[in-house]
Amino acid sequence: MSNYTTHPGVAAALAGFSLPEKLGFGLVVAPVMYSAEYADGAWGPGTLLPYGPIEIAPGARALHYAELVFEGMKAYRAGTPWPNLFRPLDNCRRLARSAERLAMPPVPEALFLEGIDAVAGALADFVPTGGGKSLYLRPFLYGSEPGYLLRNSNTFRFMVIANPVEAYASGPMKVAIERRDVRAAVGGVGVAKASANYAASLRASNASIARGYAVALWLDAAEHRYIQELSGMNVFAVIDGELHTPELDGAILPGITRDSLIALARQRGLVVVERPMLIDELLGQIASGACTEVFACGTAAIVAPIGVLGDADGREHAPRQVDVVARDLREALLALQERRAPDPFGWTRDVARPTAG
Ligand SMILES: Cc1ncc(COP(=O)(O)O)c(C=O)c1O
Repeated sequence: MSNYTTHPGVAAALAGFSLPEKLGFGLVVAPVMYSAEYADGAWGPGTLLPYGPIEIAPGARALHYAELVFEGMKAYRAGTPWPNLFRPLDNCRRLARSAERLAMPPVPEALFLEGIDAVAGALADFVPTGGGKSLYLRPFLYGSEPGYLLRNSNTFRFMVIANPVEAYASGPMKVAIERRDVRAAVGGVGVAKASANYAASLRASNASIARGYAVALWLDAAEHRYIQELSGMNVFAVIDGELHTPELDGAILPGITRDSLIALARQRGLVVVERPMLIDELLGQIASGACTEVFACGTAAIVAPIGVLGDADGREHAPRQVDVVARDLREALLALQERRAPDPFGWTRDVARPTAG
């Protein structure tokens, strides 16, 4: 018996769905979603529903005060007929930390997994496979209580929606070093996967895209000298044969892919260094050839090579090598996520099979 209720419209929603040829990233919306509500200090039962619009009070704090945190994770089905997840408890724990930072109640582990399993299990036949395709799962938690008083909501909603996707980035990315706007400051909410951080990034993202770049590279808020991350990915550089990445400074999002790559790289004998990384030092190391490669990583992008770093003064800096170390790590990570390779870390976990109820 499952603890959640399945809406009578779910079967028809699933029967009417088929995977289109072109998936993109977020273009295709899965036909079901999960929802549970929190009121009077407790979580109520969850429901699996046909995907569709939701009602929200126009004065809800999520809309006015960005009381909204989320996660991004994937279900894979390449190596086995039934889908599996990758480090789902790490997403659950990060959502709880994000919630804590915004004074929201955590989503209990059992409820989080129930939502993920309900959606991914119902969509098991629609998890696309091959070439980094997967089912992207987007759990989110928001404050639904209306009111202008600057305190937290007393009512919340936890939801899971999903999208069959291709890998987010295709080919080497051009990234634009952002020297003006700041995405996240130490002591702020950068360390949380809070929607407000993404709002802060949008102006620079638009400007980067208008200049022909894929995404902005963020620098620290205090001095504008230290590399943080991309708008939705962490960053690595190969320097003197070692793998360097900005240390978690309290503003950078602690990526689960970042953490996985550090472990995988060390397992492969690479030296991994987490340290404050000065942007101008890195550009000098690219020019001298000490830095041979730069790449980014995240659930959506997996491991994405960076071909060019464009500066605000118009100069472009291209590392000598593109997608060599990155490809090796991407293939190792994906083989593990897709269960085509052994998982010595115990990172993968079957989606729970739906039970009658
Ligand atoms: C700002 C930011 N940094 C890094 C990441 C990578 O995190 P993860 O590897 O857990 O997906 C993401 C994506 O989730 C992100 O939004």
